Parts: sequence; structure tokens; C-alpha cells
Amino acid sequence: MDDTQFEARIEAGESIEPKDWMPERYRKQLIRMMSQHAHSEVVGMLPEGNWITRAPSLRRKIGLLSKVQDEGGHGLYLYAATETLGVSRDELIEALLDGSAKYSAMFNYPTPSWADIGAIGWLIDGAAIVNQTMLTDCSYGPYKRAMIRICKEENAHQRQGYEIVTTLARGTETQRRMAQEAVDRWYWPALTLFGPHDADSKNSDELTRWGIKRKSNDELRQWFMNRVVPQAKAIGIEFPDPGLHYDETSGDWRHGPIDWDEFRRVLAGSGPCNRDRIEARRSAHEDGAWVREAAAAYEAKRRERAA
Ligand code: 3HC
Repeated sequence: MDDTQFEARIEAGESIEPKDWMPERYRKQLIRMMSQHAHSEVVGMLPEGNWITRAPSLRRKIGLLSKVQDEGGHGLYLYAATETLGVSRDELIEALLDGSAKYSAMFNYPTPSWADIGAIGWLIDGAAIVNQTMLTDCSYGPYKRAMIRICKEENAHQRQGYEIVTTLARGTETQRRMAQEAVDRWYWPALTLFGPHDADSKNSDELTRWGIKRKSNDELRQWFMNRVVPQAKAIGIEFPDPGLHYDETSGDWRHGPIDWDEFRRVLAGSGPCNRDRIEARRSAHEDGAWVREAAAAYEAKRRERAA
């Protein structure tokens, strides 16, 4: 098999499986993208986990607990799917902790009020669903299958978030203000989830050629805008975007200019919570070392007995 035959398989809509021949670059791009996706799921647990002990009711606590637990599970599916490409979990975690691998920049912002939990579910998980639904048609089998299961759970997360914001938006003036302030914090970070504009997206050409990405960053961002603007209007919430307007010709809701300098600053480590996020991941990894050692010792003993 060579690159031309491989690309013919992609063209024919075939699913690439772990044992199949693949260009080394295809494998490397998938390890980069899938591991960063997994890192994002697990780091994404931190801003929301911050409210589990302070949820306003038992019902809200149960809903948030289940969502955060789901995100941990999404991270595990995605780490396991990435390992099918011949890379170890330790290598992936090491890359996150030493900063050589990224996670979604938007998780470097704080969650100062309960309303942030609603805004994250509605806007961040809502953006993630748009992106992840596309990935359910990805050419790499293990990634595609992980996405199918993750999207089902993500849809519940988005609905839960929108219901929290709706409840607050229809509550007292204080609650309505709390909801609006949280949406002001999370609208722009949600738009960056889809990555830079297509002209600045250095990986998109390859990822599209190989059927990993089926839509461009800007196409997905536009799909998201057309979905959330009517939802905001339905509950009287305004987006903090003076450039937001309806394009009569295309029928699209157009957002204003995104502050990519802010995005690059956060990506470079100067976001409000970058340090906390990595420190939390590092100490969780260190605290869990004994569990990994015990599991490895048990497995070695089991193999010894079975030999
Ligand atoms: N945060 C951090 N880095 C980002 C980013 C973001 N939101 N968007 C892009 N980047 C980085 C890319 O990783 C790339 O850097 P690298 O080459 O060093 O890795 C660089 O910016 C240029 O961007 P590209 O558009 O060229 O990169 P991609 O083609 O990989 O597109 C992507 C970026 C759209 C995020 C794509 O990687 C993707 O679809 N990834 C899978 C989905 C994913 O990771 N989603 C993150 C959120 S998960 C989540 O939200 C959990 C949910 O439960 C809430």
C-alpha cells in the first residue's frame, strides 16, 4: 500500500482501522488531534467540578455530577482510541503536563457563578457537539466510534446547560443579570473552540484530504452561530457581540471579529487559569501513581500465574 492507494481508500469512504497501513503523517496528525481532544475533555472537568459542592439544589448537583463524570469518560474513550495508534497513555499525559500538547484554550477561564455552569453546557458543549458530530464521519474507525457515543451524552449536556440559563433568565432580576454576565464570559471562548479562521488553519488541508475533518473550522462556527442565536433570542439573552447581524443573502447569523490576540495569549499560557489547570492535572496524576502501580503489579502477578 502507498499514499495513492491509501487516499483512494479515503475517497471510497472506507474506514481506516488500527492494523491498516497508513501514512506516518496521518498517524501523527490523529495522535495530535485525538490526544488534544482527550486532554480537553479531562481539563474541561475542572471549571465545572468547581461547582459540584456549591450547586444550588440537590437536583442541580446530581445533574452536574453526572455531566462531569461523563466528561471524564469521554477523556478515557479518547485516550484509549489514541492508544490504538501505537502511543502509550503515559506518553500522552506527559505531553500534556510538559506543555508540548494542547487542550482547548477556553478551559483556562474561571467559573465565578453558578450561571457559568449553564453557559458552559449551553455554549461550550453546544459548540463541541457541532464539531464532534462532524467527527462521527471521520475516516479513522476508533475515533469515529468514540464520537458516536460521546455525542449522545454531549447533547444531554447542552440541553442541561440551556435549561439552567433559561431558568435564571426567567427568574429574578439578579438571576437574569447573573445569566447574562456568564454568557458574556463564555460566548467568545465558545467561538474559538472551532480553531482559527480557515485561512490560518495550518492543519485543515491535510485533515480534510484524509477525511478526518469533513467541514472547515469556519463552516462549523457558522453552523453553531445559526443554532445559538435563535436560542438566545428565545430567552431574552443578548450576546456580547456588537458586530452580530443577520445576513439576509445567506440566511446566516454573522459574528463580529474574534480577538485572536487574546486567544494566542491564552494559548501561550497567559489565561486566568492556565497554571491552575495544569497544576490540578499534575497533582491528580501524582496522587494516582499508587493506583497505577498497584494495577500494574496485579496484572504482572495475574500473567505470572496464567503462564
Ligand atoms: N484551543 C487550543 N488550541 C487550538 C484550538 C483551541 N480551541 N483551536 C486550534 N488550536 C490549535 C491547534 O491544535 C493547532 O495547533 P497544533 O498544530 O500545535 O496542534 C493550531 O491551533 C492551528 O489550528 P488548526 O485549525 O490548524 O488545528 P486543527 O486543524 O487541529 O483544528 C480543532 C483545531 C478544530 C480543535 C481540531 O483539532 C478538532 O476538531 N479537534 C477535535 C475536537 C476537540 O478537540 N474539541 C476540543 C473541545 S472538547 C470539549 O469541548 C469537551 C466538551 O465536553 C465540552
